[in-house]
Formats: sequence, C-alpha cells, structure tokens
Amino acid sequence: MKIAFLTSEAVPFAKTGGLADVAGALPKALELLGCEVKLFIPKYYLIDEEEFNLHYNWEIGEIPIKISKHTRSVHVYQSLLPGSNVEVNFIDCPHYYHRDQIYTDGFDEDERFILFNRGVIETLQRMKWAPDIIHCNDWPTGLAPLYLKENYAWDKLFQSTASLFTIHNIGYQGRFSKDSIKHASIREDLFYPGSPVEYHGDFSFMKTGIMFSDIINTVSETYAKEILTPEFGAGMENSLDKRKDDLYGILNGVDYSEWNPLTDKFIPYHYSSDDLKNKIKIKQELLKKFKIEFDEKIPLIGIVSRMVSQKGFDLVEEAANDLMKLNAQWIILGSGEDRYEEMFRNLQQTYPDKVAVYIGFNNELSHLVEAGADIFLMPSLYEPCGLNQIYSLKYGTVPVVRKTGGLADTVIDRKIHNSGTGFTFTDYSAKALIDAVKKTIDAYAERESWQKIQVNGMAENFSWENSAKKYIDLYKLAAQKKQNSKA
Ligand code: ADP
Ligand code: GLC
Repeated sequence: MKIAFLTSEAVPFAKTGGLADVAGALPKALELLGCEVKLFIPKYYLIDEEEFNLHYNWEIGEIPIKISKHTRSVHVYQSLLPGSNVEVNFIDCPHYYHRDQIYTDGFDEDERFILFNRGVIETLQRMKWAPDIIHCNDWPTGLAPLYLKENYAWDKLFQSTASLFTIHNIGYQGRFSKDSIKHASIREDLFYPGSPVEYHGDFSFMKTGIMFSDIINTVSETYAKEILTPEFGAGMENSLDKRKDDLYGILNGVDYSEWNPLTDKFIPYHYSSDDLKNKIKIKQELLKKFKIEFDEKIPLIGIVSRMVSQKGFDLVEEAANDLMKLNAQWIILGSGEDRYEEMFRNLQQTYPDKVAVYIGFNNELSHLVEAGADIFLMPSLYEPCGLNQIYSLKYGTVPVVRKTGGLADTVIDRKIHNSGTGFTFTDYSAKALIDAVKKTIDAYAERESWQKIQVNGMAENFSWENSAKKYIDLYKLAAQKKQNSKA
C-alpha cells in the first residue's frame, strides 16, 4: 500500500508533543510491514538542513500556490526518516515557516496550514505518485480530505486515493474566521450554519477533517468513546456522532529504539528488569544535577509535560500544599502556560530541598527523568493516548495516572489486579489525586512488592508493530469505502 502521511511535527525534525513521536515512528513500522510511506511536513526554520541531510528536489521545482490574494512560491526538500527508507518531504515556504515556532498565534496561522495541505497535494501531482491513502493527523492537516473530494477531484491521479483522519487531540481544532474559507479557495457555498466546515460561525479545520475523511480514528479505544460525549468532545461530539460508524480507536505504540533503558543514548547507565541497580545510579545523578539530596527511602516523583490544563495541573495546584507534606521528592520538566510555570517555580522556591523544576523543552532531560524517577505522575483532565506513562512502564518508573483516555488503556491499577503496573484514580479532584499519590508512596516503602510492580510494567509491550497492523486494516477499510463510493 502507498501511504502519504501528513503531519505538522515529527521526531527528529520538529516536536512539541506526542504527535511528533507518533509521526516519527508509525511510518517506519508501516514500512516494515510492506507499505511504501512518504512523510510530509512543513519545512520549519528550526529544522537543521545539514544535520538531517535535506536535498532540494529540482525535478519538482517551484510550485506556485495562491492563498488569499497572494501567490506563494513553494518548494520541496527531501530526506529520509532516520533508521528507515521512509522518504520525508519538507514543504518549503519561508514566508510562512521561517518563524520561531511550529505553531503560532499569528493572524495568518490558517494560511500556514492551508498552504501545507495544498502544497502536499500539488507535490503528489508533480511526483505523479498516487497514494492509496492520505493519512492526516490533527487539525493542521484537516483540509486535505476536503481538497481531495472538491478542489482536486478533477485529477484522475487521485481517483483511488482515500483518506484517514487521525485525531490526536480534539482540544485543538484550528478554528478560524469565515474569511479563511476564501484563503483556502474552498467553495463559499460549502459554508452555512451547520455545514461540514462550519463551527459556531467560524471555519473549523478539525470539523472539516472529521466530515470529509473516509475513515476517522483516534489514539486509544477509550478516547474514541469519550469524544462522543459532551464532556470530552469539545463541541465536536455532534459531528462525530454523525460519523460514529466510521470512528475507530487505535492505541499509539512506542518507538523502543528511542525509549528503552537498555539502549537509551541519553542516560548514563543502562538497565533492564533483571537488574535495577543502575536505575538507582541514574536517580542519584539526576538528583545531584538538581542539588537535591539522595535518600533511598524517599521516592522521586517525575513529571514531563506540556504545561496546559489538559494535563491536570489545576489539580496539582489545588493539592500542592498536601502533596508537599508527603515524604517525596519532585522533578518537573515542562513548559506551557505562564500560570502553571509560575506555580511550579513557586513550589521550587518554597521547597528547594525537595522540588526541582526545569522550565523548557529538553529531550535529553526527559529521558533522564523517565529513567531516574521512581514514580511518574500524569493526573490528566483528558488524555487521548499519552506516551510518557508508556515510556515510564518500560523504565520501571511506576505511573500514577488519572483513569481517562489512553491512560486508562495502558496502566493497570494494582488494587484491581495482582499483576498491576501502576496506580490510577478516577475522580477529577485534588483529594483523589492526593490519595493516589499517598498510596503510591506507601507502596514504595514495601520494597518487594514495589519491584514486582516495576517488573510487571517493564514486561508490557506497546511496540508499534501491533498498532501499525491495525492502521493497515483501517487503510483497507478506507480504500474499500472509496471504491464503493465510486461504484
Ligand atoms: P502530548 O502529546 O499531549 O503532549 P504525550 O504524552 O503523548 O502528550 O507526549 C508528550 C511527548 O512530549 C513525550 O515524548 C514527552 O517526553 C515530550 N515532552 C513533553 N514536554 C517536554 C519537555 N518539556 N521537554 C522534553 N520533552 C517533552
Ligand atoms: C496528543 C495527545 C496525547 C497523544 C498524542 C499522540 O498530543 O494529547 O495524549 O499521546 O497526541 O497521539
């Protein structure tokens, strides 16, 4: 099967969160299963051409694309996804992508991703490469399914091309004013109250992806059910309900070539479940780095996260005083909204001997925290899949998570099964969070049973192979739907 994989971020080129991990790993797993995959990503300024060996594609040359009133010059650079033969196509348009960030809140954010969606399709035309599937990911790629069915429907090249739209996070919807329809060269009569592209008087890229793709999926089975409800649907539940027969859940996998305590290139010592001594050495180094005293009786709780309300930091704020009374140390890595950054900075100032905070994005440190912490906390308000709890399992770092979305699908609470892999709580309340952390700290004191939990988690396997097979099944389903619609 031939797959065009569209994403706004991918490891190792550009990353803000888990979408990048998925986009850097799933295409490789698909290739191993026999698919031919081409990855498409904007050529952001921050991507290092030399480091990743990017080459300008002269055959494709210049692609003029009209956005709003201006015609922009688009070019394509190519490279390979490290560790594979997956061709990566970087859609270049300095006007839009030479900015400091992957996502901006600039007035032309819509145009940046309109250009990307159209740029990909026009690149496919110039390559004369007809994918069986255009696999779109989240709102930045939500227009491609519409373009295939509308603006580019004339092109026979795409007569058998179906689309899959993967929702990684329904909380980010790419909502722009009605004018954006014009910028995107979409038929204006497609926009009316309740239309497949309209959301509360605005143009929604997310809704467009949902309504125009052949098949939709999200990144865990539980989240696939949750987003059909008003509590989790973030306003998209009615649109999703219309498409619920085409909505699936596939749990994300993990790239164990990146995230494995036996081979991780970012950690100073390696270990496996046979011998966890080196894990303690890493904890010692990590604590030393942050000038916190090591005491083997005190558990170290790690957090690595975007600092946004999705991740449950309102609960942490409410619970902070009680959490600080517990006998634990904390290392927190993240960046995001000012109010959460501020809260964690204050905690560090008030409790310098037990709390260390690093505000920023630091890949190496994220690996160190995964390896060096004893406990990993993810009290998310909602969590489509979540990857850090899965990494934690592999690193023998026992996760404490709120039982929602992918967290519910990956962490087995110790109290329910003898063979638990972590601790979960259900209520979105400070009390439930404090109780769960307390229980985990108590369990840490019982060395033998603690080790059992660690080893159980380390034995779990969330490799991409299983999930990639499920994606191939969805691709086949989408292709079939496309076929039927032509008949
Ligand atoms: P989300 O995509 O909602 O942010 P995930 O758990 O799926 O959540 O993925 C988050 C990814 O981003 C993980 O790979 C995590 O290690 C990484 N990450 C988040 N914040 C940081 C940070 N401040 N520094 C380094 N890596 C981070
Ligand atoms: C999103 C979600 C996260 C998921 C990631 C990759 O950013 O918030 O839960 O793991 O996408 O699918």
